[in-house]
Amino acid sequence: MNLPHRPRRLRQNSVFCRVFSENQILPQKLILPLFVTEGKDVEVSNPHLPSCKTFSRDRLLKFLPEVVEHGISSILLFGVSKKKDARGTEALNKNSALIQSISDVREKFPQLLIATDIALDPYTDHGHDGLFENNTILNDETVEVLCEMALLHAKAGAHIVAPSDMMDGRVGAIRACLDESSFQNTAILSYTAKYASAFYGPFRETLSASVQGDKKTYQMNPANRREALKELELDFHEAADIVMVKPASHYLDIISDFRDSTHIPVAAYHVSGECALLELGAKQGLFDRDRALMEVLTSIFRAGADLIATYFALEAARLSSKN
Ligand code: PBG
Repeated sequence: MNLPHRPRRLRQNSVFCRVFSENQILPQKLILPLFVTEGKDVEVSNPHLPSCKTFSRDRLLKFLPEVVEHGISSILLFGVSKKKDARGTEALNKNSALIQSISDVREKFPQLLIATDIALDPYTDHGHDGLFENNTILNDETVEVLCEMALLHAKAGAHIVAPSDMMDGRVGAIRACLDESSFQNTAILSYTAKYASAFYGPFRETLSASVQGDKKTYQMNPANRREALKELELDFHEAADIVMVKPASHYLDIISDFRDSTHIPVAAYHVSGECALLELGAKQGLFDRDRALMEVLTSIFRAGADLIATYFALEAARLSSKN
């Protein structure tokens, strides 16, 4: 006898729905990106995305208890600097607000994992992630600088360095450089499949970075799916600890492919433009902001992400505790 299934049986009330939910948002699986700048008493929000915040060293320390109270366990730190030049020399300044903040947080917040972005774009006047001469990215020279930058962050106390530059060979080079200096325990979160996306607008606004031309010679073509698996294979062999897909919500196929193709943790970066769209849509009354942001984050987890970097980490942690 073929009796009919009634899927609605398991949806009959909110308790059923909660019990049979296949995915849930846990605060410890969210990474909060935060920006650090020079000066004192600075706390500014991106005008298009209030949850994207820039702090001076002192104010970052005042903000972090709230992050910890929400159960968020990881932050991703970026530098913001007015000191920009062709070679991004400020990236290697041992006394920058970012470097000092890494040490502060490491000392004062042992319950947090500190990840730091490794790329030159906050510090270059041309806005590129690497060295750029005669309209050309200098891949291997850039990798050398990134290695120094990663080592500087590791020395300051970063648990995880996160190269976001998409230069060839940088993960292996950074690994070798960290190991040589006895930082075997500093993990690498690689931006493995980072696409040349239109959704980085608010982030670049926060950095005051305007890119000369575009980043299409190093970031991936949004049309390419199989190429992401090539990048994954390379990063795996270069000993990346965590691989990341970026952006997230329009790249769920890539996240799902990664989940199926590797046993190492897969992260996804829900980028500034994706978050800002939700803010704007909600402001226009098109949908409920909180429901929409939880739906998008749930979709990214459902696709196979182990971790999500999102500017909505605090909101999502707050909302998940209510559900
Ligand atoms: C560049 C970098 C970018 C982001 C993180 N690292 C932007 C870019 O490639 O221009 C974007 C993150 C976001 O939009 O939230 N190193």
